[in-house]
Amino acid sequence: MNIQTTAGGITLQLADHPQAIPFSWRWLRDHGEDEASQDPVTLQRRVDSFAIDPKMPGQIQQTSAGLHITWPDGAVSELSHALLESVANDYLSKATPLAPQAFSVADDTVLWPDPADSSVKPSEPLLASFLSDDAEFAKGIEILSRYGYLVLRGDQAEAQLAQQFADRIGYVRQTIFGGMWDLAAGLTEHADSAYTTIYLGPHTDATYSHDAPGLQFFLCLQRADRGGESLLVDGFAIARDLADSDPDAYATLCSVIVPGRYIEPGVHLLAHRPVFRNNHRGVLTQVSYNNYDRAPFLLEPKQEACFYQAYGRFAELANDPARRLEVDLRPGDLLVFDNWRSLHGRNEFSGPRHYVGAYLNHEDLESKRRVLLCGKG
Ligand SMILES: [Fe+2]
Repeated sequence: MNIQTTAGGITLQLADHPQAIPFSWRWLRDHGEDEASQDPVTLQRRVDSFAIDPKMPGQIQQTSAGLHITWPDGAVSELSHALLESVANDYLSKATPLAPQAFSVADDTVLWPDPADSSVKPSEPLLASFLSDDAEFAKGIEILSRYGYLVLRGDQAEAQLAQQFADRIGYVRQTIFGGMWDLAAGLTEHADSAYTTIYLGPHTDATYSHDAPGLQFFLCLQRADRGGESLLVDGFAIARDLADSDPDAYATLCSVIVPGRYIEPGVHLLAHRPVFRNNHRGVLTQVSYNNYDRAPFLLEPKQEACFYQAYGRFAELANDPARRLEVDLRPGDLLVFDNWRSLHGRNEFSGPRHYVGAYLNHEDLESKRRVLLCGKG
């Protein structure tokens, strides 16, 4: 990288990019990695950001590790090349914003099913290995992050394995359904369709929650006599196909805010989100679709027509059998999926099907992956 001092701070040029990126004196003082500027253990900021004189120039000295800056008040800031490079790359990726509501997902995402390659299917590690072997754990986290689901095979139908699985990734999310829950027909604690034996069409859970759980998992303790397979549909693949075939419908589902609700005695949850939520960089981050739980809302007539057309198109794609993955869990098997991406459902069943499961946070999956990739704990 090439660093030049300017009147306002520095400019930095990466080896593979022609643009000179400006860093102001204020920014440099605010982002010191030395012990006075930041706690070396927690990496939490120590410098008083709001006391910095934005016009105060520093004396730059380039070292093999990065920048050593001496300020007129005697303070010193150290900034590493790694920090400057990482921030510069982030800056460049935002400097070329995507077209509004163009489809984009993380680079290493694998969309499924792939019509060009029917063999695209992640492997199914053993639950026991995922729990005890760090390499197998890393492999499982990678599959889950890239495909949006993971099947772990097992032969011990023991409920305690569900807690061990949750602990391995993060912690069980508490909701009105409790923490770890039993899922079996006949349980009447909550009047939700999940506690019946009927077919459940593809949906995401908790459209009524401002922060819908990012992961959901089921450990099979007892298989149904007939049916009861879990159904998964890739919501990101639906988004791609909708964006390709009907960009207006895709844009509508990125912008119309749909309310979701859950109501039972003493509970009235309500949250609002578009079907496709993009993050600050325009990258598709969350799919929310649950027509069972959609709350009443009224749009201006023309917009309403666009919404029903687009939402109907989404439903058509979500219910297309060619997109559906059926997961038949045997006792001891565990299915975990990304509730921000993979729609799930269930075939009708008969017999004493018994699962235990829970919700986990999306951020804890992301955290585990960062730690495994970068080794930063
Ligand atoms: Fe569900």
